Amino acid sequence: MLRIEGMNTHYGASHVLQGVDLDMPQGRISAVLGRNGVGKTTMVKTIMGLVVQSGGRVHVGSTDITGWPPHRVAREGVAYVPEGRLIFPDLTVIENIQVGERKAGSAWPLARLLELFPSLRERAANRGSQLSGGEQQMLAIARALVSDPKVMLLDEPSQGLAPLVVRELARVIRLLREEGVTILLVEQNMKLAEAVADELHIMVKGRMVYRATPAVFRAEEETIRPRFLTV
Ligand SMILES: Nc1ncnc2c1ncn2[C@@H]1O[C@H](COP(=O)(O)OP(=O)(O)OP(=O)(O)O)[C@@H](O)[C@H]1O
Ligand SMILES: [Mg+2]
Repeated sequence: MLRIEGMNTHYGASHVLQGVDLDMPQGRISAVLGRNGVGKTTMVKTIMGLVVQSGGRVHVGSTDITGWPPHRVAREGVAYVPEGRLIFPDLTVIENIQVGERKAGSAWPLARLLELFPSLRERAANRGSQLSGGEQQMLAIARALVSDPKVMLLDEPSQGLAPLVVRELARVIRLLREEGVTILLVEQNMKLAEAVADELHIMVKGRMVYRATPAVFRAEEETIRPRFLTV
C-alpha cells in the first residue's frame, strides 16, 4: 500500500535519510523503531512532502507520489498525526476535527468518531488547551481519520501518556486496522509497538537495518536491543 524505495533526505549538508526502504502491506500495522535522532520523523515528513526528498521514490498503491506537495499527498489518502499532536489550543474538540475534513461522505463522519472516542464526546465543546495529553492524542487521530485515509502515519503517539491511556491507544490502533487502514507507527515505546504491529522495522542512521514479526523479534530481542535500540 505504501512503498518507499531508496529514500534520501538532506537538511542542508546533513545527510539524514540514506536510502530508506520500507514496504507496507495493505491493512497492516508496520512499526518503525529506532534511537533518538536516527531519522524517523524525517522519514514521515518526507512521505508527506513536508521535507523535500533528494533521492528515491514513494508509492501509494500504484500511484507514484514522489515530490508531491503535502495537500496532494493528503488527497491521495495519506493522513499524518505529528509528533507532539499539534492540536489547535483555541479551537474546540469539534472544530479541531472539522479542520481535517476534506469531503462529504467520509467513512469516518463526526458522529462515528465521537462513538469511537467516548472521551472526546464528553469534551466536545472544550478547547484543545483544556484536554489531557491522552485526549489530545485521540483528537489528533480523530482529525486525521475524518479525512478518510487509506494510510495513517502516527509519529510517537504514546509519548508522555500514562500506561492506561497507552492501552486505550492500542485498542484504537487495532480497530483502525480492522477497518482496513494501513498504519505506519513510529514508536519509542516497544510495548505498544510489539502489542499492535504486524511487522517491526528498526532504523539506524537513516537506513532500515532490521525487519521481523513481533514473535521473531521477541526471540531475538536480547541481541537486537543493545545493538540497535538501547544506548
Ligand atoms: N529541520 C531540521 N533541520 C536540520 N536538522 C534537522 C531538522 N530536523 C531534524 N534534524 C536532524 O535530523 C536528524 C534526524 O531527526 P529526526 O527528527 O528525523 O529523528 P527521530 O528519529 O525522529 O528522533 P526522535 O526519536 O528524537 O524523535 C537529527 O540529527 C536531527 O537533529
Ligand atoms: Mg521523531
